[in-house]
Amino acid sequence: MNIEKLKIFVVVGSMRGEKSVEFKTIMNFLQCKEFDNAIIDYLSVDKVNVENCLGCCKCFNTGICPLDKKDDMGKIKQKLIDADLIIISSPVYLHHVSGATKTLLDRISYWAHIFRLIGKRAVVCSSTEVSGNEYVISYLKKAMTSFGCYVVGELTCYAMQTKDELNENFNKIIYCLIESIEDPTICRPTTFQNELFYTLKAAYLSESNNYEADYWKENDMFKYYSFEEFSYSKLGNNIKV
Ligand SMILES: Cc1cc2nc3c(=O)[nH]c(=O)nc-3n(C[C@H](O)[C@H](O)[C@H](O)COP(=O)(O)O)c2cc1C
Repeated sequence: MNIEKLKIFVVVGSMRGEKSVEFKTIMNFLQCKEFDNAIIDYLSVDKVNVENCLGCCKCFNTGICPLDKKDDMGKIKQKLIDADLIIISSPVYLHHVSGATKTLLDRISYWAHIFRLIGKRAVVCSSTEVSGNEYVISYLKKAMTSFGCYVVGELTCYAMQTKDELNENFNKIIYCLIESIEDPTICRPTTFQNELFYTLKAAYLSESNNYEADYWKENDMFKYYSFEEFSYSKLGNNIKV
């Protein structure tokens, strides 16, 4: 079985780039025959220039980050927006994501207020020597779900892992991905997504002349009763299995 027309964008959060465990693991995963017809693009944080967020909050207020013109973040955002499936990874550094991964995520924090990645599936990936995968996976899941993504799987890598364990996980993720394409109504939102949707909807309904409230209005988001309804309407796209 093949997944047709799937656009995959991979973000590798290790400064070791193509030498990193995550990069090798993700590339292995993407060798699975189900991805034969996929369009795959990737970036590794060691090869791009992403400045630290300056905390000016212009992105929240205007939808524009002044740094996007100076570094690669504008291009990276477009690649995230164009993808159907986003695979994001980070090595475990002191039981958290790497600094480079966090810097990149900080720059799109405001997308959590507008669910900018609604309708996309995500896979979160973490690599460790011994411990801490659970914290990184949990954080990446929280970030991706706050952007509106439906997380189809978790790819964890650790030194003692066997090839069989890895392959079993690959199969599980592919199964969930295919299932989510065949029937988007099985993509249950998280409690966090539902709560975030209700809170933001209530806040923006009473606001105007504000970028986020305007975005909700222009994108017809107020018409959805729940995040669930909103998400289902966007997950049925032109991807075929
Ligand atoms: C700064 C730093 C902090 C790390 N912290 C941890 C840690 O808390 N727990 C752990 O088991 N491994 C830790 N490691 C090891 C890496 O998570 C491990 O080598 C990982 O596989 C590297 O992934 P990569 O090859 O994809 O870059 C740390 C490594 C570095 C460089």
